[in-house]
Amino acid sequence: MPGFQVAIDGPAGSGKSTISQKVARKLNWTHIDTGAMYRAVTLKALETGIELSNPDAYRFLETLNICYDKDRIYLENRDVSEDIRSDAVTDNVSLVSSFPYVRDILVKLQRQAAMIGNVVMDGRDIGTVVLPEADLKIFLTANVEERAKRRYAEHLRKGKANPMKKVIDDIKTRDQKDSTRASSPLRMADDAIELDTTYLTVDDVVDKILELIDKKEKEHGD
Ligand code: DC
Repeated sequence: MPGFQVAIDGPAGSGKSTISQKVARKLNWTHIDTGAMYRAVTLKALETGIELSNPDAYRFLETLNICYDKDRIYLENRDVSEDIRSDAVTDNVSLVSSFPYVRDILVKLQRQAAMIGNVVMDGRDIGTVVLPEADLKIFLTANVEERAKRRYAEHLRKGKANPMKKVIDDIKTRDQKDSTRASSPLRMADDAIELDTTYLTVDDVVDKILELIDKKEKEHGD
């Protein structure tokens, strides 16, 4: 019997991971960042040197051990939480995540992970494909400029100084690829609640989601 499931979807830079992590921490629930899983596969593919555009080259996934625990991600027990944020991974993750074979394997892992109790899971297809029965579905948006500003600030904090124009272009390219791919494109579920975070702080959004969870839990209790 699954616990309470919150699905949080949205485009790159909409604040999904930060917000989902905070919501989960406040409630002492499990947070699962599915984007980190697609990034880990991309990192492995880059390190192994497979031909990234060949869908048949991903058979290594059958035996690959990917584990997400307490906001750290492990590949064969190696903590790759920092390595998966590299430019090389960011530039290739949309391609890798477009292959149905890769998605099938990761979606299975994500569903298993969601069975362990109350979860907040974030990604692109959580409300539509991974957890279509989720108790609460949120779709976070923000305009491109604001999302780019957030990514830029995140890069600066990590000592990286990509020009703003590159950050905007990267986000636009990823939006385009993630929402037009054939397999599970980024799309808002019909029963999701859309939250535009452009003019909201992280804490405003977290509070709003906590309110919505509280309301749903009360409805379930009635
Ligand atoms: O959230 P993120 O930027 O770390 O996600 C990295 C990429 O992974 C994103 O460009 C698309 C892909 N992704 C996906 O296809 N489905 C998900 N559920 C999560 C991420």
